[in-house]
Order: sequence, then structure tokens, then C-alpha cells
Amino acid sequence: LYKTQAPRVLPTILLVGPSGGGKTSLLTLFATGHPSQTQTSQSPQSAICQTPPSTSTSSNRYRSENDTSARDQPTFTLLDTPGHGKLRHHALSSLTSTPALKGLIFVLDSAAVSSATNLTEAAEYLHDILLLLQKRHTGAKTSKNAQSVPVLVAANKQDVFTSLPAGLIKQRLESEITKVRVTRSKGLMDSGVGMEGDVGGGSEDAEWLGAFGSVGFGFEQMGECDVEVSVVGGNVRGEGGKGGKVEGWWEWIGGVV
Ligand code: GTP
Ligand code: MG
Repeated sequence: LYKTQAPRVLPTILLVGPSGGGKTSLLTLFATGHPSQTQTSQSPQSAICQTPPSTSTSSNRYRSENDTSARDQPTFTLLDTPGHGKLRHHALSSLTSTPALKGLIFVLDSAAVSSATNLTEAAEYLHDILLLLQKRHTGAKTSKNAQSVPVLVAANKQDVFTSLPAGLIKQRLESEITKVRVTRSKGLMDSGVGMEGDVGGGSEDAEWLGAFGSVGFGFEQMGECDVEVSVVGGNVRGEGGKGGKVEGWWEWIGGVV
């Protein structure tokens, strides 16, 4: 009898977020070293990436500065999904079906979210993703399945002068998600879900994102289900078509892969 070795599954990071945020640009920058011209995505695509030597990772964080041996920079799969509203099922199903999912990057256009419509759209999408992660945690039978999936909100396009800084984007997303979760739970009550006699245990608090009964939503409420959310600014594109400012995102990736 031969024992076949199970193929090693690379850790995977999922790229999600509204259309035009810069997911595919980020993928090409991380995979090839320079961002290339993109078109709105119609299907998911993936690339194998490696953290640059300048990024400290969970495995080399405590290395001595005098250690000159070659660093073993982690390799991972980056999975890009289309952001168009009608194609988001790709992202949502990848979220539950990807083995070795290590993290999720929600890429958004920091200038676009100063418009109320775009902010609402982004907040709705982020709400739905966080709720899926919350349900994944609550529904996990074993601690292995409950492996935490941290979320990075990449506040992209910081090179655009009308862009909002990451701190402000965090605040606006939190207050917009506060509204979204109220709207969603009202919709559920109208449809009778979560009402008395509801069978199957799908109670209304299972559909409520974050701390049940809280007035305002804050990303720290996701800690309850082991989901850590960070908001970090950057830009895929820099002046003169050169790669922009992405160190903060690499640092985050280094900590999760
Ligand atoms: P979908 O595939 O539709 O979901 O969009 P996407 O998130 O993949 O966006 P994509 O990467 O195609 O980028 C959309 C546009 O934004 C492109 O024209 C990019 O060149 C541009 N873009 C991406 N990142 C930046 C950035 O950091 N700064 C600036 N100024 N433009 C950027
Ligand atoms: Mg794309």
C-alpha cells in the first residue's frame, strides 16, 4: 500500500469589494510587481504571490538582525472576485468554499465613498460579508472550522486628492453599517423571519451583525466571533504609472499567511 501525500494547499486570501475599487489592479501588482490596465471583472481569477523580503511575517518577526540566512517568504494564493452587484455570488460562495482561507481584503475606492450612494453600496456589501463570517463562526461545529478569518479594509486610491483618509472611512463605514443592519432586520420582521413560532432556530439575532441590542455598530464587535477588522489606507497606482503605496497591506498579509 502506498501512502499518497496530500498536496499542500496554499493559504488563500480573498479579494472582495465594490466594482472599481481596485481588486484586479492589486492582484496584478502583487503578482507581477506592477499594476496593469484592467477591465471590469466578469469572473474570478487567482494568482500566486509571495510577500516581499521587506515584509515581516509571523514566521520571521523574531529573527535576529544579524541573521543573514535567506528568508523564507510565504507564498499564498490571491483570489480576485468581480465586484459588480450581479456577480457577487462568486465572492460569497468563495467565502464558504475556499479551503485554507486565511483572510479577506475588502478593497474600496477612498474617493468614491464620499458619495452617499457609493458609501451605502460599500457598507451593504461589507455588512453581508461580515454577517457570513459571523454565521460561519457561530455555525462551526469544531474549533477547526471556526478558524478566524481577519478582514482588511484596504482604503485604496489614497493618491487621488479627493480621497478620504482611512480613519474617516472606518467611521463612515461603521455608521453606515449601523443603518444597514437596522434596515435588514426590519425587512426580516416584515417577512416574518424571526417571529414567534419560527422553526429551525433561525432567530433574528442570528441575522443581526455584531453585538445584539447595541445601538451603533463598531468593527470591534466582530471580535466576539473572532473576526478582526483593520482599515488601512494605500494606493495600488502611484504617480507616473509606478506602483503606489502598499506596505501597510503587505504587513497585514505577512501577519495572516
Ligand atoms: P471590478 O472588477 O469591476 O470589481 O473592479 P476592480 O475592483 O477589479 O477594479 P480595477 O482593479 O479594475 O480598477 C478600477 C480602476 O481603478 C482602474 O482604472 C484602475 O487603474 C484604477 N485604480 C486602481 N487602483 C488605483 C489607485 O490606487 N489609484 C488610482 N488613481 N487609480 C487606481
Ligand atoms: Mg476586477
